[in-house]
Amino acid sequence: MSVNTNARIVIVGCGISGVAAAQRLVKAGFHNVRIVEATARSGGRIKTGRLGNNIVEIGANWIHGPSEENPVYHLARQYGLLDPEALTPENQAMDVGGHPPWVPNIFSSSGRKLNVEDLYPALEMFAELLDESSEFQSRGGEPWTNVGDFIRSKVQQRAAEKWKDIDGTTRSLRLSVISNMLKVECSVNGAHSMDEVGLGAYGLYKTLPGLDCTFPGGYEGLVKNLMSVLPAGLVTYSQPVRCVHWNNTEKRGYPVTVECDDGNKIAADHVIVTVPLGYLKKHHSTLFHPPLPLHKLHSIQRLGFGTNNKILVEFDSPWWDTDCEVIHLVWEDEDAMVDQVPDVQRYWIKKLFGFTVLKPTERYGHVLCGWIAGHESEYMETLPEQEVSHAVTQLIRRFTGNPTITPRRIMRSQWFHDPWTCGSYTHPGKGCSAQDLQNMMEPLPTKSSQSQPLQVLFAGEATHPCYFSTVHGAVLTGWREADRLISHYSSSSSSELTMSKL
Ligand SMILES: Cc1cc2nc3c(=O)[nH]c(=O)nc-3n(C[C@H](O)[C@H](O)[C@H](O)COP(=O)(O)OP(=O)(O)OC[C@H]3O[C@@H](n4cnc5c(N)ncnc54)[C@H](O)[C@@H]3O)c2cc1C
Ligand SMILES: *[C@@H]1O[C@H](CO)[C@@H](O)[C@H](O)[C@H]1NC(C)=O
Repeated sequence: MSVNTNARIVIVGCGISGVAAAQRLVKAGFHNVRIVEATARSGGRIKTGRLGNNIVEIGANWIHGPSEENPVYHLARQYGLLDPEALTPENQAMDVGGHPPWVPNIFSSSGRKLNVEDLYPALEMFAELLDESSEFQSRGGEPWTNVGDFIRSKVQQRAAEKWKDIDGTTRSLRLSVISNMLKVECSVNGAHSMDEVGLGAYGLYKTLPGLDCTFPGGYEGLVKNLMSVLPAGLVTYSQPVRCVHWNNTEKRGYPVTVECDDGNKIAADHVIVTVPLGYLKKHHSTLFHPPLPLHKLHSIQRLGFGTNNKILVEFDSPWWDTDCEVIHLVWEDEDAMVDQVPDVQRYWIKKLFGFTVLKPTERYGHVLCGWIAGHESEYMETLPEQEVSHAVTQLIRRFTGNPTITPRRIMRSQWFHDPWTCGSYTHPGKGCSAQDLQNMMEPLPTKSSQSQPLQVLFAGEATHPCYFSTVHGAVLTGWREADRLISHYSSSSSSELTMSKL
């Protein structure tokens, strides 16, 4: 079947979803495709950098669920970007439900390394409650609006039953561990607090089998390989889009005009918008003319887009166990099960739940990745690097009880203040449902309209119904919108005939 491949298609944003859309359209023969990108680089939230001699990730870190159904795993394998362990059937078959079974070291604010066995009851209870939080999606009638309230109330109930014979100190320590786990989830979900994550929609997020793995040569290798099939000059860099004018009524003209910051105007049949949800929240009123329909706008507002940042820290020698994969820092004064810091300017560092260990050691040396979410993380971004380094050093000295530990170097991400991202990734906010993600991906004009179809399409992480917040989700949305256009033109030879009869 012949496809009309002359359509003019503009893709806004050269993150992985924009690249995926372009790659598929070009492969289908469309030759008037271009990407307009605000920054001077491709990749968006996939961003590989250096810490000393080490290749480190400033944005996306893992392939979540590397197995057959995961398109990122497929591509990475095809391009030869993965370590052999990641390719083993055992690795792919491991079903970790989004939480890899990393070996933990747990330190407390009184400078002790805690016995992990003593804390297993708390870790186990928390894991159970996260699983239970996912179950409301299909059932409805959830007892609380948000995950934080649900977990706190259930822990209180269960602790009263199961831990009633436990001494006060141990019980209090276990509750402080719950606070730490809530902070972990703030980072996982990209939320300020688990009180802002909707309980009814929490189960919308789906995981794939496979033990999370990384790109030894950097995540950007994925972007580079995908882009290698695109014609040279397809991407225009440093070209921020100011406004997408759609529903142009001028006869014989193009239905959409993309207006750039420098005044440049690009006429198009179709525009695929891939800008992050954080950017949409902030700029929707100026980015679209006419404005977005209300149901779409309300979904943009209801969905959450919080901040999660990394603080990468290198040491001369490790202060953690050889087999340790994740370090938790438990504050003994936090038995109230809190994931928010009362005085952000003074105590922001308390939001940092701990560190993941970069492995293998032969490759990275002794490098940790600290994780900090929420408003505390946004405040951290405003501080000079020196001050962040000082706070992290003091923190580690306190928790290890070792006053001599000094990092060799440090680097942090600043995703909230990135003007083209405005945060990290999407989570379902309170009151969200599957309909919100449907609204996110719905093209303009909406079905009932008489005007030219598929003028503005929406891709990007925040438009995937169950893999939002991930790279594989972003890739799938780019392909989805490319396919929408490809099938539109594949069927229009027959529909043109019917149209001409009208
Ligand atoms: C700290 C962090 C850790 C993460 N870890 C993981 C992980 O381990 N695994 C995982 O799967 N995912 C992870 N993610 C999420 C993952 O990075 C994203 O889901 C994915 O990269 C999003 O791709 P995208 O194409 O939807 O958006 P983006 O990559 O954000 O691309 C959007 C592009 O649009 C551009 N843009 C914005 N506004 C304009 C404008 N007005 N005009 C023109 N261009 C514009 C931006 O510059 C950007 O290049 C992480 C994200 C962060 C921030
Ligand atoms: C688009 O244009 C049509 C025809 O002029 C008009 O009826 C419709 O209201 C417009 N839609 C929007 C969202 O402005």
